[in-house]
Amino acid sequence: MTIRPETFQYIREALHRRTAIHLMDNKEYLVETRLSLLARQNGMRSVDDLVDHLRTLGSSVLWPDVVDAMTTNETSFFRDSTPFHVLRDEVFPELMNKTRTPTQLRVWSAAAASGQEAYSLSMLWSEIRRQYPLWDLDILATDISSKMLERGRQGAYSDLEVIRGLSEQRLADNFRREDDRWLVNEALKQNVNFQYLNLINAWPTLPKMDIVFIRNVLVYFDHPTKCNLFAKLRKILKPNGFLFLGGAESALTIDDGFERVFASGSSCYRLKSEHTK
Ligand SMILES: C[S@@+](CC[C@H](N)C(=O)[O-])C[C@H]1O[C@@H](n2cnc3c(N)ncnc32)[C@H](O)[C@@H]1O
Repeated sequence: MTIRPETFQYIREALHRRTAIHLMDNKEYLVETRLSLLARQNGMRSVDDLVDHLRTLGSSVLWPDVVDAMTTNETSFFRDSTPFHVLRDEVFPELMNKTRTPTQLRVWSAAAASGQEAYSLSMLWSEIRRQYPLWDLDILATDISSKMLERGRQGAYSDLEVIRGLSEQRLADNFRREDDRWLVNEALKQNVNFQYLNLINAWPTLPKMDIVFIRNVLVYFDHPTKCNLFAKLRKILKPNGFLFLGGAESALTIDDGFERVFASGSSCYRLKSEHTK
């Protein structure tokens, strides 16, 4: 069964308006596979029927579920590993050395999906915090998918999820087994807060950040959306702050105010000094 062309067009436009996610041409199969279960769960026979419902009730209560279904939430603990080495060996020492009065460092895991990135940051901090006894780390994890945020808050992961990226030592140190799941220890949860945030909206309540991880989400956005996002990232980052992107993403084609720092594979950027005044 295939969806009507106007069903695809409607989802494509409405999803872009609400999330900035840009669906390429010929992604009808994606819309169909991702939304058929939601249609059935709500007593509708097809994705076409679901879209007829969304069209009639523009503010349908089903929209958050549509967004949940249409987002790709692929993630893993310590994804790509290099950024976490760079953070431990370069970024933390530099930030701590430059600041005279020790205080709280704020890290934002933007587009955090089910929380593995935020908990990786928390684990890393627990391993090195003895070197920085006067500092605290505050981690904000945000996403547009309520389902993912709920998973992050629960901090419960399957065998498959913990195998991806966690050493036996880290698993033993930071998780406990309950039934068939691995639960994140309370100590690790303490400095992580999960919050709903749509990256394309304004960020009026966010504090200034020392470090932003915004990885593997730019790929879903078109160029104007990326440029708007970077204009906001400039404002949210503290002058000495660092920005981490995904391995296949680059700030250089989006905003020439940023420069790559440390190793070329680090995907770590900061604002050029002339832009920090
Ligand atoms: C592929 S995951 C990346 C997860 C993690 N950053 C990583 O690199 O492993 C992309 C995430 O971006 C989120 N996302 C997509 N559009 C968004 C938007 N407009 N605002 C906030 N989050 C969004 C999705 O819900 C999804 O969880």
